[in-house]
Amino acid sequence: AVPKRDAAFNQLAEYARKHSNDDNSITTTFGTPVPEKDSSLTVGYHGPVLLQDWFSLDELAHFSRERIPERVVHARGAGAFGYFEVTHDITKYTAATVFAQIGKKTPVGVRFSQVAGELGYADTVRDIRGFALKFYTEDGIWDITGNNQPVFFVRDFVMFPSLIHVMKRNPKTHIRLDYDMFWDFLTLRPETTHTTMIFFSDRGIPDSFRKQHGYGVNTYAFVNAQGKFNYCKFHWLSNQGIGTLTSAEAQKIAGIDPDFHIRDLYNAIANGNFPSWNFYIQIMTPEQAAKSEFDPFDDTKVWPHGQYPLIPVGKIVLNRNPENYFAEVEQIGFDPAHLIPGIEPSPDRMLQGRLFAYGDTQRHRLGPNHIQLPVNCPFHVHNYDRDGRFAIHNQGGAPNYHPNTFNGPVNDKRAQALTPQIPLQGVANRIDSVNEDNFTQARVLYQRVMKPDEKTRLVQNIVSFLVPTTSALRERAIDLFAHVDESLAQRIRDSLKATAIEQHVNL
Ligand code: HEM
Repeated sequence: AVPKRDAAFNQLAEYARKHSNDDNSITTTFGTPVPEKDSSLTVGYHGPVLLQDWFSLDELAHFSRERIPERVVHARGAGAFGYFEVTHDITKYTAATVFAQIGKKTPVGVRFSQVAGELGYADTVRDIRGFALKFYTEDGIWDITGNNQPVFFVRDFVMFPSLIHVMKRNPKTHIRLDYDMFWDFLTLRPETTHTTMIFFSDRGIPDSFRKQHGYGVNTYAFVNAQGKFNYCKFHWLSNQGIGTLTSAEAQKIAGIDPDFHIRDLYNAIANGNFPSWNFYIQIMTPEQAAKSEFDPFDDTKVWPHGQYPLIPVGKIVLNRNPENYFAEVEQIGFDPAHLIPGIEPSPDRMLQGRLFAYGDTQRHRLGPNHIQLPVNCPFHVHNYDRDGRFAIHNQGGAPNYHPNTFNGPVNDKRAQALTPQIPLQGVANRIDSVNEDNFTQARVLYQRVMKPDEKTRLVQNIVSFLVPTTSALRERAIDLFAHVDESLAQRIRDSLKATAIEQHVNL
């Protein structure tokens, strides 16, 4: 069925209703009125165009520069704005201003995304979804650049570029997905197993951005007003419930309405059906972390809720669509290094790499002053950065060196008091974590969490990705799943036997 005319279809009609055509002259890029926009300036009807037709050429030149690099991952997505409200007191864990008192509201920006597809890809493909939060606090920007599932494929950031390469296009055929690249990498790096199980589960294709949970994935830390330090994880659970699509449903929708998720979010908010999520934390003391039987800084693992219960904190409500997609969604930049006093990084190796990667890519994608875009930082900033392309807020005549005796900005005492003192020691080394415990939590997920019908769909989904690869890689993948559960491996084997596989190359 063709999508019905909805709020998204009516966007232009709605614009026209709110904006009259009076006093609405076209202007040049420098603001002067344009007499005639419908023809270029020519010498007679068939004459050549004059170089002095400056504003036609200016428009052409601007058009040719409309595209900026898309995000190297998470290129495709949708954004919305709203607020975070504190419902429970957690000041005993953190002095972060955003949690200062019950009832406090902080504006938020949110972007939902798909990891591997490009900007113009279809929404309903099997993939992890990004779910990034930006809190506009009085202490500046705090970002949680999260996902829609609690764990990630790899635990050391040096693995990330290769992981993404196998999820993107083959460098020669330019085809995605290349199933041989995909299974080759996953089976050589068994730490991917836990997330791979979720990728192939029902949660691998949400039916709406609104009907999915969000997770910080990495481990962070909190510092309270007394300087006490604890590790923490962030979770935000959907009040719309969980909605998923089967592979068959998703494939059909991808053909009919590739913008299915973007449309759904836009319409929900335009119709006043504001989506919301309840926000929780998990807390682990440094003493518990030191004794933990699993690595609390390994993002391929969850912290079991029985041991580390979800502590309610607040809620997130999205009640405003972007006024302009490019300005507020394409140009928004989330960064795990954007932390505020009271919230700190942990030694999580993935997080440590991410602290560098996002600002770095945004300096390339958006420019060195991307942070001055209104959606990224609406605050008055006081520091010693100056100049660079598109420096809008260049801080007037304030001193541009530190220290100085001319009333330039100084160290912040409160932020200083909240900086944790962390004793560290060890031997610098490169330690490959490939043989960490890679299967226990994946086994719990399969044996104790998944219901029988979910297991059946898991097997079908895995098999559909195994059919196009080589028999050698199929065997390696079956062996990987046998480490999770022998009966899972057997079901995959049986299902593959029942599927006609055309093997073009004898591998
Ligand atoms: C986006 C790198 C791991 C969630 C991005 C971007 C880069 C990147 C370069 C594009 C940012 C932009 O252009 O604005 C990395 C690296 C990782 C890593 C190097 C590993 C070390 C993760 C993990 C998560 C995650 C573990 C899950 C928590 C996201 C999300 C976005 C994103 C949600 C999209 C943000 C947005 O909506 O603009 N990542 N990433 N990434 N990443 Fe990661």
